[in-house]
Amino acid sequence: MRVYSSHKELLKSIKHKLSVGLVPTMGSLHEGHLSLIEKAYSENDEVIVSIYVNPTQFNDKEDLKKYPRNIKEDLKKLNRFENVIVYTPENNDLYQKNESSKQYDFGSFTNLMEGKHRPGHFDGVATIIEKLFKIFNPDNAYFGEKDFQQLLLIKTLTEQLDINTNVVGCDTIREPDGLAMSSRNKLMSDKERKSAKEIIKLLLWAKEVYSKFDFVQIRDEIKNRSKLIDSFKLEYFEIMNLEEFSSISKKNNEIRAFIACRIGNIRLIDNIKL
Ligand code: PAJ
Repeated sequence: MRVYSSHKELLKSIKHKLSVGLVPTMGSLHEGHLSLIEKAYSENDEVIVSIYVNPTQFNDKEDLKKYPRNIKEDLKKLNRFENVIVYTPENNDLYQKNESSKQYDFGSFTNLMEGKHRPGHFDGVATIIEKLFKIFNPDNAYFGEKDFQQLLLIKTLTEQLDINTNVVGCDTIREPDGLAMSSRNKLMSDKERKSAKEIIKLLLWAKEVYSKFDFVQIRDEIKNRSKLIDSFKLEYFEIMNLEEFSSISKKNNEIRAFIACRIGNIRLIDNIKL
């Protein structure tokens, strides 16, 4: 394993001609992240994992403060990948002093769901990913379907800016009870964690009845069911036809259900294909 906090030093260590896969993360690594790294290994000669809690994508300062950070544990988990290159920058390796997000226009899908509920979030994500792609110029970059809108956003970014990186979407990895793995899961109490396993049940129920009921009926029932779950506050539930959702998924005849909720103070999102 090679660990760098300076991108310039990291770049010096990469031989030209080798294919490079990039896996951007904010650390507190779990099996979801590690599955992206495994996929990157199967398709590239070198794999760079970035670990950086990007401040510009946090619209909520408290959320940024309490975001879990555990670099020692992360490096231990990365030990299973012998040759992995880890990039763990400080802010000043990526941002000028007081630099804020760039403003992008990716079309209407960025005003829905996460875009609507976390103003500025996607500009922050696009800002950091544009920087990482321009610095490392990876052949492939790996993102989870767990953050489906983010995945579409990054595909749109590479298309709009003519970036040559191939953006690869990867399956959502779940806990045995179906909860999508997330760095935020460890912030929950045992009681909250129990409530969190209901998220996938709501989505699976929507999948089951999707062909029988219309959307409003399904959403109303999801609202009713979510009121019965302890400490659970539904933020949104949506069913989206991806063809209508963003220009990048025009030929994608796929329908997905999306959910965001708060359990206590922890915000969680998930989605499944219907
Ligand atoms: P983070 O939440 O650390 O996630 C890093 C990558 O892991 C993202 O592509 C995310 O979709 C993926 N991921 C998270 N949980 C997953 C799961 N259960 N199964 C599969 N993949 C999963 O997403 C971010 O960081 C940041 O926004 C980032 C892209 C790094 C930009 O700062």
